Amino acid sequence: MLPTVIPDVIPLSRSVLDDAEARAVAATLATGRLVQGEQVARFQALVAAYTGRRHALAVSSGTAALQLALEALGIGRGDAVLVPDLTWPSPAHAVLGVGATPVLVDVDAAEWNAGPEGLRVARRPDVRAAIVIDQFGNPARVAEIAAALPGVPLIVDAACSLGSHVGALACGSQGVIACHSFHPRKVLTTGEGGMCLTDDDALAQRLTELRNHGQSTPGVFARASGNHRMSEVAAAIGVVQMGRLDTMVAERQAIATRYRDALTDLSPQRAPEGARRNEQTFGVLLPEGVVRDTLIAQLRTEGVETGRLSYALHTLPQLRSAAEDAEREGRRFPHATALAERGLALPLYPGLREDAQAKVIAALRRVLK
Ligand SMILES: Cc1ncc(COP(=O)(O)O)c(C=O)c1O
Repeated sequence: MLPTVIPDVIPLSRSVLDDAEARAVAATLATGRLVQGEQVARFQALVAAYTGRRHALAVSSGTAALQLALEALGIGRGDAVLVPDLTWPSPAHAVLGVGATPVLVDVDAAEWNAGPEGLRVARRPDVRAAIVIDQFGNPARVAEIAAALPGVPLIVDAACSLGSHVGALACGSQGVIACHSFHPRKVLTTGEGGMCLTDDDALAQRLTELRNHGQSTPGVFARASGNHRMSEVAAAIGVVQMGRLDTMVAERQAIATRYRDALTDLSPQRAPEGARRNEQTFGVLLPEGVVRDTLIAQLRTEGVETGRLSYALHTLPQLRSAAEDAEREGRRFPHATALAERGLALPLYPGLREDAQAKVIAALRRVLK
């Protein structure tokens, strides 16, 4: 049966794309150069400058960025990597993809990120790195985590957090390697795309090789690797989007502030002190007893698209072995479990009008009665 089409549904998410992107794509096509050209170089330079990084390497997705980061650090079979339990599965899949073992760690009840203490306690002798996630654009406590995990390189999964800051530090500026995603659900999009950021020259060289068939110079294959490059067309979109990043973030912040004021009783995600979030996703924790997926269906009939907030990785079949390790090592996941079961993402995108947002809030209140 075909899904029922309900007109005028307020979508969960919408990218900001207009004539400027269309012109940039047309101009790129007109050059005839579609890979490894000027647009990728310009996009990398813009993100490097925004985050204060020495190197920015555009790749095909956020997931590719994470996997290349692990490979560049030499992580593989026999190694373990700390991974927050509440997230899209990519970070854990990337760890499995290089043959290593994810060590899952519960998230903080208020900030929804894995914190320094949880990560410190979960550290085992075979841990060779930690993936630290700025979940939903909320900055992780990277400096405190680095202090709690001496000698453990941090890969910051900043997939959601381009445009967020802690004090003067842009998200993506910390960690031995940080990884962004430019999927359309993110604040800045290139369609598909990702980026690795680092200040380390040797790692940047390795990442450059890994994204391009393992070539150190054209035709010289230093190692075996796939093709993880970003296209010129995608990068051309990214260049335009970088020009409006701060205004897109400001608009998102105004919308999120209105949600936060109206929905304080539904435990929205809390930011660490000094953080300014890009508001990539606005989520709430529904009261116990509410069946989130039924509520999503009810809201849809009210003309509002909402979504599942995230996943508790220890419940996924491909991570059964990591869940069994956790069980044996005494790690539990009450916060990730609650957020995976009862977390709800609300519509949030630049251009969401105040009256439409009021409709979302009123519909949510109605179905929660
Ligand atoms: C925290 C996190 N990491 C990684 C990714 C993967 O990014 P991509 O979809 O670009 O592969 C996502 C995507 O949703 C994500 O939310």
